[in-house]
Amino acid sequence: MNRHLRLGVNIDHVATIRNARGGIHPCPKRAAEIAAAAGADGITVHLREDRRHITDADLDALSGSISLPINLEMAATDEMLAIALAHKPHAACIVPERRAERTTEGGLDAAGQHNALQPIVSRLKDAGIRVSLFIAPEARQLEAAARLGAPVVELHTGPYAHAFDDGDAAAELERLARAAEHGASLGLEIHAGHGLTYANVGPVAALPQLAELNIGHFLVGEAVFVGLDAAIRRMRAEMDAARA
Ligand code: PXP
Repeated sequence: MNRHLRLGVNIDHVATIRNARGGIHPCPKRAAEIAAAAGADGITVHLREDRRHITDADLDALSGSISLPINLEMAATDEMLAIALAHKPHAACIVPERRAERTTEGGLDAAGQHNALQPIVSRLKDAGIRVSLFIAPEARQLEAAARLGAPVVELHTGPYAHAFDDGDAAAELERLARAAEHGASLGLEIHAGHGLTYANVGPVAALPQLAELNIGHFLVGEAVFVGLDAAIRRMRAEMDAARA
């Protein structure tokens, strides 16, 4: 087990708050700089088709100007592929995107969409971008990701987070544990994210195959009360404690 579990801080909802008034405050780039100082290992942004939070101008402003690697979450579309190839982020995480959803609700159907995903995965990889696929913790999706040649998968922890709130996360945690084990046996690097909080992050962070967590909404929400720096430091501490 690699003791240092990387923390990618998703700053989408800093942009959500900014966009509520349409001005320039709070600035996602400033959030990225605070995240770097607080011990984040990467910055994640999701450029959605409808630009509801992060905008093209945000991606321009962040690219090449912050000290942390950028993980661009993107739908598997020609438009997003062109943007990724133009900006060359460190990593690109392919996510399913439905316009009406409030957040990314399900995992990518890597198994069912092999032919549509293959050229996108290949072109991102050829450009030197580390590709990950955001999938449900299911064997067939892991196997499809490996067949597509994606080096990384991000396991969707949303159902685990919901089950945790309902007081019965054991089965969902077990699914994540089995998927992490199976994915690692296929040679995939395993990430996880969605819906993680101080309360529920520990059991996920303790899964030995995990290399990275991506966390956003909770951290930005908590930042309202304690500040972004303190929220990230506390999350980092919860992750480290689970890993110790
Ligand atoms: N990982 C992926 C692929 C996501 O789409 C999201 C949400 O944008 C996250 C992680 C972070 O989820 P949350 O904002 O609930 O922490």
